[in-house]
Amino acid sequence: MNELNQVEKQINRLKEQINHHNYRYHVLDSPEISDAEYDQLVRELKQLEEKYPQFLTPDSPTQRVGAAPVEAFGVVEHPYPLLSLGNAFSEEELTSWYTRTSRTLGDEHFDLVCEHKIDGLAVALTYVDGQLVTGATRGDGFRGENITQTLRTIRSVPLSVSRDAPPRFEVRGEVFLPVAGFHRLNEERAQEGQPIFANPRNAAAGSVRQLDPRTTARRPLDIYIYMLGYAEGKTVPDTHWDRLDYLKSLGFKVNPNNALFGSIKEVEEYYQRWISNRESLPYEADGVVVKVNSVIRQDRLGSVGHEPRWAIAYKFPAVEGTTRLKEIAISVGRTGTLNPYAILEPVKVGGVTIKQAALHNEDDVRRKDIREGDWVTVRRAGEVIPEVVGPIVSKRTGKEKEYNLLEKIFDKAKGRPACPVCGAEVVRPENEAMYYCTNTACPAQVHHDIGLFVSRGAMDIRGIGESLSAMLLNEGFIRDVADLYSLKEKQEQLSQLEKMGEKSVDNLLAAIEVSKDRSLARLIYALGIRHVGGEMAQLLAGEFDDLDDLKNASSERLLEIEGVGPKIAESITKFFAQPENLKIIEKLREAGVWPRRTPAEADKLPLAGMEFVITGCLDAFSREVAQERVKALGGTAKDNVTRNTTYLVVGEDPGGSKLTRAQALGTRQLTEEEFLALLEKQRRQ
Ligand code: IVH
Repeated sequence: MNELNQVEKQINRLKEQINHHNYRYHVLDSPEISDAEYDQLVRELKQLEEKYPQFLTPDSPTQRVGAAPVEAFGVVEHPYPLLSLGNAFSEEELTSWYTRTSRTLGDEHFDLVCEHKIDGLAVALTYVDGQLVTGATRGDGFRGENITQTLRTIRSVPLSVSRDAPPRFEVRGEVFLPVAGFHRLNEERAQEGQPIFANPRNAAAGSVRQLDPRTTARRPLDIYIYMLGYAEGKTVPDTHWDRLDYLKSLGFKVNPNNALFGSIKEVEEYYQRWISNRESLPYEADGVVVKVNSVIRQDRLGSVGHEPRWAIAYKFPAVEGTTRLKEIAISVGRTGTLNPYAILEPVKVGGVTIKQAALHNEDDVRRKDIREGDWVTVRRAGEVIPEVVGPIVSKRTGKEKEYNLLEKIFDKAKGRPACPVCGAEVVRPENEAMYYCTNTACPAQVHHDIGLFVSRGAMDIRGIGESLSAMLLNEGFIRDVADLYSLKEKQEQLSQLEKMGEKSVDNLLAAIEVSKDRSLARLIYALGIRHVGGEMAQLLAGEFDDLDDLKNASSERLLEIEGVGPKIAESITKFFAQPENLKIIEKLREAGVWPRRTPAEADKLPLAGMEFVITGCLDAFSREVAQERVKALGGTAKDNVTRNTTYLVVGEDPGGSKLTRAQALGTRQLTEEEFLALLEKQRRQ
């Protein structure tokens, strides 16, 4: 008993320490210990929890991503509705709100709190007895979606708070993706051939509305708490400002740019200051929220419909401008997509000169009825590529030209539409909004291919940037990625190139040479097969001996691999059916870029060679997730017990036949607890 007491104390001490350092790192941005020291604390805690599972609690910092994917989001009723905000678009509108408010309050003086209106996703977090119990979206204000599991993965969301906190309370705040994280995410998605997010708001919303919390956990989401929803069982401060301070003291992340003012003049100054500085913020803000500080006064003011009278969103001027659209041009993306974009008369929008803007796809151009020669509104939403909002129809002269992509790329000599870069045929797959160039050797595509091939997650060849690869292509040094490896034969000519001294040629060739040793997984990823991102490449590298083996795989064989669906299998077989790609692979082989499956990729994983069958229901996660975990550690997961089965994992209400067969064969059985312990132990090694 005594020993157990000691253990419990030690566990609690570790949890406190980890929570403290988590808070320093994720909320205050001011860590006190190194990452390695932090990891050591987490390791110690995990070891103890594994040995003494009776002390494992859901609020433990080891349990942020423990949960299974939810089948669908449940519904959460908000005990107090989540309101939205009325808008003010000018100083006059703000003043008139202020005058109205002042009059309703009987002309007594009142303070105002200013906060940034962050462009993210509103959430409500409920804590009971110090524990986070529910996290929900705003929904329609009365009922939201239950996204507790994904919100738990955000490091700045406390899983538990001090016992001094009210026994039951709700805080509200904005989940957002910092601008830098947004760009990184989109780069990754572009490379993996996934659609990119239009703005950080969509990216944040898409990230928390994931069925699998592990996906959310990989996104660098953050949160600012902007108000106390309600508190029961304890008196809390009676001004908004003091409540924010109080929430900060409980461990919540509160925006340090918030400010308290005594006059509307100061509000206007704050607003003007941030209009000039908004680009320097690590998040996207589209205005200032102005709130009456006294909660008693807030209650007296009440609300109309969804909008409180005690607060208003003072919107930053939209970064929009108008200009003439000279021409709709077409660029070719990595996967061969033909992307229409607008060439504009240069126009200054929010201090930045814009000459081009995105148009997404042809359907979009048609829907908005954007014509060449039109006057258009363009918008620059913070960090994202400027876009054409729509035409200003009243300014039309009749000379504008309707846009038709096929007409635009019609090649008279060939008598058919052709890729504007290489002249190859173009197709539009059914159910897609995009046209594609069918030539994988199209220089525009190859330029993107090289970008992916040399990137960090792929062959990691330093020194080949956009402009150098464009130059190598234009000057005919390379025609595809494999040609990089024959550059050494052209060393002399290379040093004649602009900005290429002997030294930089040497460095470049050396970097290319060492990349020959990259793993099979990296090479598979580097080939840029559609739908094959880094993780999928890793999975394939564990299944196939080398590129030949993968090339020869039938779609049946591919489909047998857990995690490979019809879309991926089709994309892989299509890739290897293209003669251009086979040529590249042959060139790679000749150049000695021929990694094989190495023990590091499959056999060295801790569960390699072990076969698992699972029967019955597991508490910790669904059977599918359990199988995925086994595979991630190199094991295999099967549906039936055979002589090859290493372990039968027995959950609740196990199926009779598997158990009987295991008993007959003498297969080792694991309880769920033993299974979890085994996974955890192997994962750490
Ligand atoms: S206060 C009654 N404060 O703006 C007050 N909202 O249209 C309700 N938002 O859905 C919200 N930053 O997601 C408040 N500092 C801030 C905010 C903020 C962003 C969002 C919030 C809400 C929307 C209101």
